Amino acid sequence: MTDETKGGKPAAGPFDSDSATAQGVARGLTNYGDKGFSLFLRKAFIKGAGLSDDALARPIIGIVNTGSSYHPCHGNAPQLIEAVKRGVMLAGGLPMDFPTISVHESFSQPTSMYLRNLMSMDTEEMIRAQPMDAVVLIGGCDKTVPAQLMGAASAGVPAIQLVTGSMLTGSHRGERVGACTDCRRYWGRYRADEIDAPEIADVNNQLVASVGTCSVMGTASTMACITEALGMMVAGGASAPAVTADRVRVAERTGATAVAMAASRLTPDQIINGKSIENALRVLLSIGGSTNGIVHLTAIAGRLGIDIDLAGLDRISRETPVLVDLKPSGQHYMEDFHDAGGMLALLRELRPYLHLDVMTVSGRTLG
Ligand code: FES
Repeated sequence: MTDETKGGKPAAGPFDSDSATAQGVARGLTNYGDKGFSLFLRKAFIKGAGLSDDALARPIIGIVNTGSSYHPCHGNAPQLIEAVKRGVMLAGGLPMDFPTISVHESFSQPTSMYLRNLMSMDTEEMIRAQPMDAVVLIGGCDKTVPAQLMGAASAGVPAIQLVTGSMLTGSHRGERVGACTDCRRYWGRYRADEIDAPEIADVNNQLVASVGTCSVMGTASTMACITEALGMMVAGGASAPAVTADRVRVAERTGATAVAMAASRLTPDQIINGKSIENALRVLLSIGGSTNGIVHLTAIAGRLGIDIDLAGLDRISRETPVLVDLKPSGQHYMEDFHDAGGMLALLRELRPYLHLDVMTVSGRTLG
Protein backbone atom coordinates (compact mmCIF):
# COMPACT_ATOMS: atom_id res chain seq x y z
CA MET A 1 0.00 0.00 0.00
CA THR A 2 3.01 2.32 0.18
CA ASP A 3 3.28 4.84 -2.61
CA GLU A 4 6.67 6.42 -1.83
CA THR A 5 9.92 4.89 -3.00
CA LYS A 6 13.54 5.63 -2.17
CA GLY A 7 16.17 4.07 -4.38
CA GLY A 8 13.56 1.72 -5.79
CA LYS A 9 12.69 0.31 -2.33
CA PRO A 10 9.34 1.16 -0.74
CA ALA A 11 9.70 3.29 2.42
CA ALA A 12 8.08 1.91 5.57
CA GLY A 13 4.45 2.97 5.58
CA PRO A 14 1.63 2.87 8.10
CA PHE A 15 0.22 -0.35 6.63
CA ASP A 16 3.45 -2.30 6.16
CA SER A 17 3.53 -5.54 8.12
CA ASP A 18 6.33 -7.98 8.74
CA SER A 19 4.64 -11.03 10.26
CA ALA A 20 7.86 -12.10 12.01
CA THR A 21 8.12 -8.91 14.04
CA ALA A 22 4.51 -7.73 14.04
CA GLN A 23 3.15 -6.32 17.28
CA GLY A 24 -0.10 -4.88 18.49
CA VAL A 25 -2.76 -4.37 15.87
CA ALA A 26 -0.45 -5.75 13.13
CA ARG A 27 -0.25 -9.21 14.74
CA GLY A 28 -2.00 -12.19 13.22
CA LEU A 29 -3.55 -10.49 10.19
CA THR A 30 -6.70 -11.80 8.58
CA ASN A 31 -5.84 -13.48 5.29
CA TYR A 32 -6.93 -11.28 2.41
CA GLY A 33 -3.85 -12.28 0.35
CA ASP A 34 -2.28 -8.81 0.79
CA LYS A 35 -0.90 -8.06 4.26
CA GLY A 36 -0.83 -4.33 3.72
CA PHE A 37 -4.49 -4.37 2.76
CA SER A 38 -5.33 -6.60 5.73
CA LEU A 39 -3.81 -4.08 8.14
CA PHE A 40 -5.35 -1.15 6.29
CA LEU A 41 -8.80 -2.75 6.58
CA ARG A 42 -8.34 -3.76 10.23
CA LYS A 43 -7.33 -0.23 11.19
CA ALA A 44 -10.24 1.23 9.25
CA PHE A 45 -12.71 -0.93 11.18
CA ILE A 46 -11.27 -0.34 14.63
CA LYS A 47 -11.15 3.39 13.97
CA GLY A 48 -14.91 3.11 13.68
CA ALA A 49 -14.80 2.65 17.46
CA GLY A 50 -12.92 5.96 17.74
CA LEU A 51 -9.38 4.66 18.30
CA SER A 52 -6.47 6.88 17.20
CA ASP A 53 -3.24 5.92 15.43
CA ASP A 54 -1.43 6.70 18.70
CA ALA A 55 -3.58 4.16 20.60
CA LEU A 56 -3.15 1.59 17.83
CA ALA A 57 0.65 1.93 17.96
CA ARG A 58 0.68 0.55 21.55
CA PRO A 59 1.10 -3.06 22.62
CA ILE A 60 -2.33 -4.64 22.89
CA ILE A 61 -3.36 -6.36 26.10
CA GLY A 62 -6.38 -8.60 25.64
CA ILE A 63 -8.68 -8.98 28.65
CA VAL A 64 -10.91 -12.05 28.79
CA ASN A 65 -14.33 -11.01 30.05
CA THR A 66 -16.25 -13.88 31.61
CA GLY A 67 -18.88 -11.70 33.24
CA SER A 68 -22.49 -12.83 32.75
CA SER A 69 -25.86 -12.34 34.40
CA TYR A 70 -25.78 -16.11 34.98
CA HIS A 71 -22.51 -15.81 36.85
CA PRO A 72 -22.61 -14.14 40.30
CA CYS A 73 -19.13 -15.53 41.07
CA HIS A 74 -17.93 -13.17 38.32
CA GLY A 75 -20.34 -10.37 39.22
CA ASN A 76 -17.50 -7.89 39.80
CA ALA A 77 -16.03 -8.49 36.33
CA PRO A 78 -17.01 -5.02 35.04
CA GLN A 79 -15.17 -3.29 37.91
CA LEU A 80 -12.12 -5.53 37.51
CA ILE A 81 -11.98 -4.93 33.76
CA GLU A 82 -12.01 -1.19 34.40
CA ALA A 83 -9.13 -1.56 36.89
CA VAL A 84 -7.11 -3.82 34.56
CA LYS A 85 -7.58 -1.28 31.78
CA ARG A 86 -6.31 1.46 34.08
CA GLY A 87 -3.21 -0.60 34.87
CA VAL A 88 -2.60 -1.32 31.19
CA MET A 89 -2.91 2.34 30.19
CA LEU A 90 -0.73 3.56 33.07
CA ALA A 91 1.96 1.24 31.71
CA GLY A 92 1.57 2.42 28.11
CA GLY A 93 -0.54 -0.37 26.60
CA LEU A 94 -3.87 -0.53 24.81
CA PRO A 95 -6.45 -2.70 26.65
CA MET A 96 -8.97 -4.65 24.56
CA ASP A 97 -11.55 -6.73 26.44
CA PHE A 98 -13.41 -9.54 24.72
CA PRO A 99 -15.92 -12.21 25.81
CA THR A 100 -15.59 -15.96 26.05
CA ILE A 101 -18.08 -18.44 27.41
CA SER A 102 -18.37 -18.51 31.16
CA VAL A 103 -19.25 -21.50 33.33
CA HIS A 104 -20.98 -21.25 36.72
CA GLU A 105 -21.29 -24.35 38.87
CA SER A 106 -25.01 -24.03 39.61
CA PHE A 107 -26.05 -22.81 36.18
CA SER A 108 -24.43 -25.53 34.06
CA GLN A 109 -26.56 -28.47 33.09
CA PRO A 110 -25.86 -31.37 33.34
CA THR A 111 -22.54 -30.47 35.00
CA SER A 112 -19.90 -27.78 34.73
CA MET A 113 -17.04 -30.23 34.12
CA TYR A 114 -18.65 -31.11 30.82
CA LEU A 115 -18.02 -27.51 29.71
CA ARG A 116 -14.48 -26.93 31.04
CA ASN A 117 -12.73 -28.14 27.92
CA LEU A 118 -15.11 -26.20 25.67
CA MET A 119 -14.22 -23.06 27.62
CA SER A 120 -10.51 -23.85 27.29
CA MET A 121 -10.90 -24.20 23.51
CA ASP A 122 -12.88 -20.96 23.29
CA THR A 123 -10.20 -19.16 25.31
CA GLU A 124 -7.33 -20.62 23.28
CA GLU A 125 -8.88 -19.91 19.89
CA MET A 126 -9.90 -16.33 20.68
CA ILE A 127 -6.40 -15.57 22.00
CA ARG A 128 -4.97 -17.02 18.79
CA ALA A 129 -7.47 -15.39 16.47
CA GLN A 130 -7.27 -11.80 17.72
CA PRO A 131 -4.19 -9.56 17.86
CA MET A 132 -2.80 -9.26 21.38
CA ASP A 133 0.73 -9.05 22.79
CA ALA A 134 -0.38 -10.37 26.19
CA VAL A 135 -3.65 -11.42 27.76
CA VAL A 136 -5.26 -11.01 31.17
CA LEU A 137 -7.50 -13.96 32.02
CA ILE A 138 -10.31 -12.96 34.38
CA GLY A 139 -11.87 -16.06 35.91
CA GLY A 140 -12.63 -17.43 39.34
CA CYS A 141 -15.42 -20.00 39.53
CA ASP A 142 -14.27 -23.62 39.71
CA LYS A 143 -13.83 -24.63 36.06
CA THR A 144 -12.97 -21.22 34.66
CA VAL A 145 -9.41 -20.78 35.92
CA PRO A 146 -8.23 -24.24 34.75
CA ALA A 147 -10.01 -23.71 31.42
CA GLN A 148 -8.29 -20.35 30.95
CA LEU A 149 -4.82 -21.61 31.94
CA MET A 150 -5.21 -24.62 29.63
CA GLY A 151 -6.18 -22.38 26.74
CA ALA A 152 -3.45 -19.83 27.41
CA ALA A 153 -0.78 -22.52 27.74
CA SER A 154 -1.69 -23.83 24.31
CA ALA A 155 -2.04 -20.39 22.70
CA GLY A 156 1.52 -19.48 23.69
CA VAL A 157 0.88 -15.76 24.21
CA PRO A 158 2.11 -14.03 27.43
CA ALA A 159 -0.75 -14.58 29.87
CA ILE A 160 -1.57 -13.62 33.45
CA GLN A 161 -4.45 -14.86 35.60
CA LEU A 162 -6.71 -12.57 37.62
CA VAL A 163 -9.39 -14.11 39.80
CA THR A 164 -12.58 -12.35 40.81
CA GLY A 165 -11.92 -13.12 44.50
CA SER A 166 -13.99 -14.78 47.17
CA MET A 167 -17.47 -13.72 48.29
CA LEU A 168 -18.06 -12.33 51.78
CA THR A 169 -19.54 -14.52 54.50
CA GLY A 170 -23.07 -13.96 55.78
CA SER A 171 -24.68 -14.30 59.18
CA HIS A 172 -27.63 -16.46 60.22
CA ARG A 173 -28.94 -16.11 63.78
CA GLY A 174 -25.49 -15.21 65.04
CA GLU A 175 -23.67 -17.90 63.11
CA ARG A 176 -21.26 -17.07 60.31
CA VAL A 177 -22.17 -18.86 57.08
CA GLY A 178 -20.76 -19.13 53.58
CA ALA A 179 -21.07 -21.20 50.42
CA CYS A 180 -20.76 -23.98 49.89
CA THR A 181 -19.92 -26.03 52.96
CA ASP A 182 -22.71 -24.46 55.01
CA CYS A 183 -25.18 -24.89 52.11
CA ARG A 184 -25.00 -28.67 52.40
CA ARG A 185 -24.89 -28.59 56.18
CA TYR A 186 -28.07 -26.51 56.52
CA TRP A 187 -29.86 -28.47 53.80
CA GLY A 188 -29.02 -31.67 55.69
CA ARG A 189 -30.50 -30.15 58.86
CA TYR A 190 -33.65 -29.15 56.96
CA ARG A 191 -34.05 -32.65 55.49
CA ALA A 192 -33.64 -34.08 58.99
CA ASP A 193 -36.42 -31.75 60.26
CA GLU A 194 -33.97 -29.98 62.58
CA ILE A 195 -34.92 -26.61 61.05
CA ASP A 196 -38.20 -25.56 59.44
CA ALA A 197 -39.12 -24.07 56.04
CA PRO A 198 -38.99 -20.38 57.15
CA GLU A 199 -35.51 -20.89 58.59
CA ILE A 200 -34.08 -22.63 55.52
CA ALA A 201 -35.49 -19.71 53.47
CA ASP A 202 -33.65 -17.28 55.77
CA VAL A 203 -30.43 -19.25 55.39
CA ASN A 204 -30.85 -19.14 51.62
CA ASN A 205 -30.53 -15.34 51.78
CA GLN A 206 -27.31 -15.44 53.79
CA LEU A 207 -25.13 -18.18 52.31
CA VAL A 208 -23.87 -16.02 49.45
CA ALA A 209 -23.48 -12.57 50.96
CA SER A 210 -21.90 -10.87 47.94
CA VAL A 211 -20.62 -11.49 44.44
CA GLY A 212 -17.42 -13.54 44.24
CA THR A 213 -16.33 -17.15 44.43
CA CYS A 214 -17.20 -19.60 47.22
CA SER A 215 -15.82 -18.45 50.55
CA VAL A 216 -14.34 -21.80 51.58
CA MET A 217 -11.27 -23.69 50.36
CA GLY A 218 -13.27 -25.32 47.59
CA THR A 219 -12.11 -25.69 44.02
CA ALA A 220 -12.23 -21.96 43.18
CA SER A 221 -10.09 -20.90 46.15
CA THR A 222 -7.78 -23.86 45.61
CA MET A 223 -7.23 -22.96 41.96
CA ALA A 224 -6.58 -19.32 42.88
CA CYS A 225 -3.91 -20.34 45.41
CA ILE A 226 -2.16 -22.89 43.21
CA THR A 227 -2.20 -20.46 40.26
CA GLU A 228 -0.29 -17.96 42.38
CA ALA A 229 2.09 -20.78 43.39
CA LEU A 230 2.55 -21.67 39.71
CA GLY A 231 3.76 -18.12 39.09
CA MET A 232 0.87 -17.24 36.76
CA MET A 233 -0.62 -14.50 38.99
CA VAL A 234 0.75 -11.36 40.65
CA ALA A 235 2.14 -11.97 44.13
CA GLY A 236 -0.64 -11.75 46.70
CA GLY A 237 -3.31 -11.99 44.01
CA ALA A 238 -5.16 -15.11 45.20
CA SER A 239 -6.95 -14.19 48.38
CA ALA A 240 -8.38 -10.66 48.30
CA PRO A 241 -12.20 -10.87 48.54
CA ALA A 242 -14.18 -9.82 45.48
CA VAL A 243 -15.70 -6.63 46.87
CA THR A 244 -12.58 -5.13 48.46
CA ALA A 245 -10.28 -2.32 47.39
CA ASP A 246 -7.43 -4.85 47.64
CA ARG A 247 -9.04 -6.87 44.83
CA VAL A 248 -9.33 -3.79 42.60
CA ARG A 249 -5.69 -2.88 43.22
CA VAL A 250 -4.66 -6.45 42.34
CA ALA A 251 -6.53 -5.96 39.05
CA GLU A 252 -4.73 -2.68 38.30
CA ARG A 253 -1.36 -4.30 39.09
CA THR A 254 -2.25 -7.24 36.85
CA GLY A 255 -2.87 -4.90 33.92
CA ALA A 256 0.47 -3.15 34.37
CA THR A 257 2.27 -6.50 34.73
CA ALA A 258 0.72 -7.73 31.48
CA VAL A 259 2.30 -4.80 29.61
CA ALA A 260 5.73 -5.72 30.98
CA MET A 261 5.14 -9.36 30.00
CA ALA A 262 4.26 -8.28 26.46
CA ALA A 263 7.57 -6.41 26.20
CA SER A 264 9.63 -9.35 27.47
CA ARG A 265 7.57 -12.00 25.61
CA LEU A 266 7.17 -13.98 28.82
CA THR A 267 5.02 -16.90 27.68
CA PRO A 268 3.36 -19.58 29.90
CA ASP A 269 5.88 -22.26 28.86
CA GLN A 270 8.64 -20.16 30.50
CA ILE A 271 6.69 -20.16 33.79
CA ILE A 272 4.93 -23.51 34.00
CA ASN A 273 7.37 -26.42 34.23
CA GLY A 274 7.91 -29.52 36.37
CA LYS A 275 9.28 -27.47 39.27
CA SER A 276 6.46 -24.92 39.34
CA ILE A 277 3.92 -27.75 39.07
CA GLU A 278 5.53 -29.37 42.12
CA ASN A 279 5.29 -26.03 43.95
CA ALA A 280 1.60 -25.90 43.09
CA LEU A 281 1.10 -29.41 44.42
CA ARG A 282 2.91 -28.46 47.64
CA VAL A 283 0.57 -25.54 48.07
CA LEU A 284 -2.46 -27.70 47.28
CA LEU A 285 -1.42 -30.00 50.12
CA SER A 286 -0.58 -27.24 52.57
CA ILE A 287 -3.88 -25.37 52.11
CA GLY A 288 -5.95 -28.56 52.49
CA GLY A 289 -7.16 -27.83 48.97
CA SER A 290 -9.74 -29.49 46.77
CA THR A 291 -8.84 -32.84 45.21
CA ASN A 292 -10.27 -31.33 41.99
CA GLY A 293 -7.09 -29.24 41.95
CA ILE A 294 -5.13 -32.35 40.95
CA VAL A 295 -7.51 -33.06 38.07
CA HIS A 296 -7.20 -29.49 36.77
CA LEU A 297 -3.47 -29.17 37.33
CA THR A 298 -2.97 -32.39 35.38
CA ALA A 299 -4.88 -30.90 32.45
CA ILE A 300 -2.94 -27.60 32.58
CA ALA A 301 0.41 -29.41 32.75
CA GLY A 302 -0.68 -31.72 29.97
CA ARG A 303 -1.08 -28.77 27.61
CA LEU A 304 2.69 -28.22 27.97
CA GLY A 305 3.61 -31.91 27.79
CA ILE A 306 4.29 -32.20 31.53
CA ASP A 307 3.13 -35.32 33.39
CA ILE A 308 1.94 -35.17 37.00
CA ASP A 309 3.73 -37.84 39.01
CA LEU A 310 1.06 -39.23 41.36
CA ALA A 311 3.61 -41.36 43.22
CA GLY A 312 5.63 -38.17 43.71
CA LEU A 313 2.50 -36.40 44.97
CA ASP A 314 2.01 -39.18 47.50
CA ARG A 315 5.64 -38.80 48.59
CA ILE A 316 5.50 -35.03 49.10
CA SER A 317 2.13 -35.33 50.85
CA ARG A 318 3.92 -37.15 53.67
CA GLU A 319 6.34 -34.30 54.30
CA THR A 320 4.29 -31.16 53.50
CA PRO A 321 2.60 -29.54 56.52
CA VAL A 322 -1.06 -28.50 56.40
CA LEU A 323 -0.96 -24.81 57.31
CA VAL A 324 -4.43 -23.50 56.54
CA ASP A 325 -7.57 -24.11 58.60
CA LEU A 326 -10.44 -23.34 56.23
CA LYS A 327 -13.76 -25.05 55.59
CA PRO A 328 -14.68 -27.62 54.36
CA SER A 329 -11.91 -29.48 56.23
CA GLY A 330 -11.38 -26.80 58.88
CA GLN A 331 -13.13 -23.83 60.47
CA HIS A 332 -12.46 -20.54 58.69
CA TYR A 333 -13.14 -18.70 55.41
CA MET A 334 -11.11 -17.14 52.59
CA GLU A 335 -11.41 -13.59 53.95
CA ASP A 336 -9.72 -14.86 57.15
CA PHE A 337 -6.91 -16.35 55.05
CA HIS A 338 -6.51 -12.97 53.34
CA ASP A 339 -6.44 -11.15 56.68
CA ALA A 340 -3.76 -13.59 57.88
CA GLY A 341 -1.47 -12.68 54.98
CA GLY A 342 -2.81 -14.92 52.23
CA MET A 343 -0.47 -16.67 49.85
CA LEU A 344 2.53 -14.47 50.65
CA ALA A 345 2.46 -15.65 54.26
CA LEU A 346 1.82 -19.24 53.22
CA LEU A 347 4.65 -19.32 50.65
CA ARG A 348 7.04 -17.85 53.19
CA GLU A 349 6.19 -20.65 55.63
CA LEU A 350 6.56 -23.23 52.87
CA ARG A 351 9.86 -21.81 51.63
CA PRO A 352 12.02 -24.85 52.62
CA TYR A 353 9.78 -27.10 50.50
CA LEU A 354 9.60 -24.95 47.36
CA HIS A 355 11.66 -24.55 44.21
CA LEU A 356 12.51 -20.85 44.49
CA ASP A 357 14.29 -20.52 41.13
CA VAL A 358 11.14 -20.77 39.01
CA MET A 359 9.99 -17.82 36.90
CA THR A 360 6.80 -15.87 37.64
CA VAL A 361 4.71 -13.31 35.75
CA SER A 362 6.72 -10.58 37.51
CA GLY A 363 9.76 -11.47 35.39
CA ARG A 364 11.48 -12.49 38.64
CA THR A 365 11.76 -15.83 40.36
CA LEU A 366 9.44 -17.04 43.08
CA GLY A 367 12.31 -16.66 45.53
FE1 FES B 1 -18.60 -20.32 41.65
FE2 FES B 1 -18.43 -21.84 43.97
S1 FES B 1 -20.08 -21.71 42.53
S2 FES B 1 -16.95 -20.58 43.02
